[in-house]
Amino acid sequence: MSYKEYPKVELHLHLEGGAPPAFIRQLAHEKKTDLSRIFREDGSYEYRDFDHFLTVYEAACSVLQTPEDFRRLVLAVMEQSAENGVVYSETFLSPDFCGGGDLSAWREYLHAMQEAADEAERKMGVTLRGIITCIRHFGPEKAKPIALCAAETMGDFITGFGMAGAEMVGRPGDYSYAFDMAREAGLRLTCHAGEWGGPDMVADTLRDLAPERIGHGVNAIHDLALVDRIAEDGIVLEVCPGSNVFLGATGDWPEHPIRMLRERGVKVTVSTDDPPYFGTTMTREFEGLARAFDWTEDDFAELNRTALDAAFCDDATKDKIAKLLEAT
Ligand code: ADE
Ligand code: ZN
Repeated sequence: MSYKEYPKVELHLHLEGGAPPAFIRQLAHEKKTDLSRIFREDGSYEYRDFDHFLTVYEAACSVLQTPEDFRRLVLAVMEQSAENGVVYSETFLSPDFCGGGDLSAWREYLHAMQEAADEAERKMGVTLRGIITCIRHFGPEKAKPIALCAAETMGDFITGFGMAGAEMVGRPGDYSYAFDMAREAGLRLTCHAGEWGGPDMVADTLRDLAPERIGHGVNAIHDLALVDRIAEDGIVLEVCPGSNVFLGATGDWPEHPIRMLRERGVKVTVSTDDPPYFGTTMTREFEGLARAFDWTEDDFAELNRTALDAAFCDDATKDKIAKLLEAT
């Protein structure tokens, strides 16, 4: 069966990473910027490996220059999500790309994105919430003003704080100042770990930054005692199988750790990460899992419930989304 229409809850989507290549090409054209080096002839993004992916990603972000650009970006990304049945999306937002982490600039970008989120909810039926993320390879000092942006703008829309970027740069504890500031402000926390780093990176992230969710976390599978601890502590993994397979962070679909993690009692959820970069959509994620593991609607209903339980939004929003899920 096709899972395109099946309602879905997504917790791990990078807003800039969701930008359709045609959207970035159009902005480059409007701004008279030559970005041809980051596109293949067929129009898709071109990169060699994960480090080069981050370079191409930042080059694509260079044409996102104004609040209006980000308003259009939110609508373009949510259009793709809604087309693939997503009814609730938690999206990573990076003030580094919105005025370099300056708080008053960030407020203007955020205002534009929130307006677009309201429009997407009205017209497309997808509810969006934001998780502010610092970027690991920009270093711990740059993470502090990003945490301040998060602390100062938290509310109904900005619900969490996290960290993305090159996982092998530094150690999790280097970023504890930023995470402590976000936690003290009342933000919920998530952090990328165990996509490229081993189980030690996941363990250190849990010990030093104490997030309730981990972005990816799949390499925890190499230490079953850690997997059992993650399960017992109820830590939620934002697993992105299509991203892992495409980038080679894991083996192919049939060997993907999501199945074993789930069977050992870990709370797993499914997301796309940066869908046009990895040739995926939420529909393709569900269909890949159905093909690889014979997962059925019962499994996907459970994944959706786990994701909604772990969502950072308020209870009224969760109740509204739960009704949409129950209707299927
Ligand atoms: N930023 C965007 N996508 C990412 C990923 N898969 N890992 C780390 N940082 C990212
Ligand atoms: Zn990610």
